[in-house]
Amino acid sequence: MHITFLGHAGLLVEGGGRRVVIDPFLTGNPKAAMKPEDVKADAVVLTHGHGDHIGDALAIANANDCPIIAVVELAGYFGRKGAKKTIGMNTGGSFETNGIRVKFTQAFHSSSVQDGDQLFYAGQPQGVLLTLGGQTLYHAGDTALFSDMKMIGERHKIDVQALPIGDFYTMGPDDALDAAAWIGAKHVIPIHYNTFPGIAQDGAAFAANLEASGLKGHPLEPGQSVEI
Ligand code: NI
Ligand code: MN
Repeated sequence: MHITFLGHAGLLVEGGGRRVVIDPFLTGNPKAAMKPEDVKADAVVLTHGHGDHIGDALAIANANDCPIIAVVELAGYFGRKGAKKTIGMNTGGSFETNGIRVKFTQAFHSSSVQDGDQLFYAGQPQGVLLTLGGQTLYHAGDTALFSDMKMIGERHKIDVQALPIGDFYTMGPDDALDAAAWIGAKHVIPIHYNTFPGIAQDGAAFAANLEASGLKGHPLEPGQSVEI
């Protein structure tokens, strides 16, 4: 599995001959790794409806003629906005299409879509278990620490976990250290930090602190990749 950090919470995940983009927020992102028109994808997966996650989803999905996979209310929103293909799931559900397996998990956060001066209900926020080519990535979405992360780790064979560490809107680094240990996947990619001043964190220090749990941190700069 080859994972490229797109900046903020965005990941481009490649494996088993498939390319999946999660939470592409490129336009308006001061740390964006690439332009949305340069993203090639077989699916766009979204954790929740906030603008720093859905950013370029519609443009990327339609340009690539690929589905947006999201919780049912958010998928419905994109269908009304002109997405050619949407797959609306819900928490705890899993689905496989075209060699791309997605399972949604709970996440403790909020979710709505801001569209001009209107705010739409966007369903529950989700975490994502994405399996490509026999390997699984857990993208926790925006979330607080919660004890069922232990269960998610025990009940799934997870190879790599992407966890928010920015604090303020999500877990901060101290809570994320416990999350990483509970989930237990060996490789940990910190996300959702340093995009804006309010979520400034030290990714290298977070990675160093993971060593006490026997885990390997990958504090990627936008555009950098890791092979798991
Ligand atoms: Ni959010
Ligand atoms: Mn966010």
